[in-house]
Amino acid sequence: MSYKLAYSSWNQEELNAIQRVIKSERFSMGPEVVAFEKEFASWHNVKYGVMVNSGSSANLISIASLFHKNKNPLKPGDEVIVPAVSWSTTYTPLQQYGLKLKFIDVEIDSFNIDIARLEEAITPQTKMIVAVSILGNPAAVDQISSFADGHGLYFMEDNCESLGAELPSKSKTGTFGDLNTFSFFFSHHIATMEGGMVLTNDEELFHLLRSMRNHGWTRDLPECSDIYKKSDDDFFEAYRFILPGYNVRPIEMAGAIGREQLKKLPDFIKKRRQNLSIFQNLFGTDERFIIQKEYGKSSAFSFPLVLNPAQKPARKEILKALKKADVEYRIITGGCFPRHDVIKYFDCEITNIDNANIIHDYGLFFGNYPIDLTNELNQAYKLMDITFK
Ligand SMILES: Cc1ncc(COP(=O)(O)O)c(C=O)c1O
Repeated sequence: MSYKLAYSSWNQEELNAIQRVIKSERFSMGPEVVAFEKEFASWHNVKYGVMVNSGSSANLISIASLFHKNKNPLKPGDEVIVPAVSWSTTYTPLQQYGLKLKFIDVEIDSFNIDIARLEEAITPQTKMIVAVSILGNPAAVDQISSFADGHGLYFMEDNCESLGAELPSKSKTGTFGDLNTFSFFFSHHIATMEGGMVLTNDEELFHLLRSMRNHGWTRDLPECSDIYKKSDDDFFEAYRFILPGYNVRPIEMAGAIGREQLKKLPDFIKKRRQNLSIFQNLFGTDERFIIQKEYGKSSAFSFPLVLNPAQKPARKEILKALKKADVEYRIITGGCFPRHDVIKYFDCEITNIDNANIIHDYGLFFGNYPIDLTNELNQAYKLMDITFK
């Protein structure tokens, strides 16, 4: 039996949505995208949604927008506190905008940013915190948000891996940041081919994001706002550029598919969590493995685990046995980011990140998707059991 990392959650509804767009002959960002943005924001009880073509683009225009706020904009050289474990494009927009990154450690039992390290990481240059809920398990974004408010810092939640996760208060992840980003790439909780979203409650940021997404153009802006006032010269107003923007617009099909996937999301999460409890029962009660302790309710992106280094696991043998049995696995998110070659391009300070290094060296994950994975998880556990020593 093969056990894949990812599996399509599309059905006839998504194919019908694609046909609906083809018939409409409106292929770039249009009414389906607008409807999806509203539905997605409302699902989170957040005011504004801005859809883009990927989670990476969501991170990019979020950082870009903070550089153009009227009051207290980010500036090159400002410091941003980040966890040492995440995906490359959590970090690269920070580098591209000349920010200095301060990497802090993650918790070994959640793989999320260790909030006990925040206070000591702050300097007078610190302007922002970025937190990531790793693979469905909420980081303490509620507490980080209060901490950021208390210190006058911006807070961005990269929630690309944890759509639908809940804090102990039942509020959803992806709602605590000044900016909150999401990815709809294949294998994520909802998939729109490629796609992403930024959520915010800040009207100025909403307008900045809409212009940044679309060439720095005024086309999607109201006639009068914090960032732009329309003149009565219609000819020039039709093509007026006010920001150094991008084209990271989503296609209309992605919006239409997103609307169908969003309807199914609660059921997807329910099924993912049923698999999670099987995983927790197998691996969570075995001291050879370290798995994520839930903070609130995970939306179970996948099944990450760390081979407990204290038990001297034969890592290579385990991976070989999994591969031979066609059980797919991969590194947790992107591992410890400062271990990658690209770090030479970053202006950064790396504090003690022992746990991130353990996760990099001993971590892996198996796939999760909304179908019953009882047999697959039992198979993976048995293989690891046989080859552990
Ligand atoms: C934490 C995190 N941020 C950002 C991204 C980028 O999302 P995308 O692949 O849609 O660009 C990913 C990708 O999975 C991710 O895991």
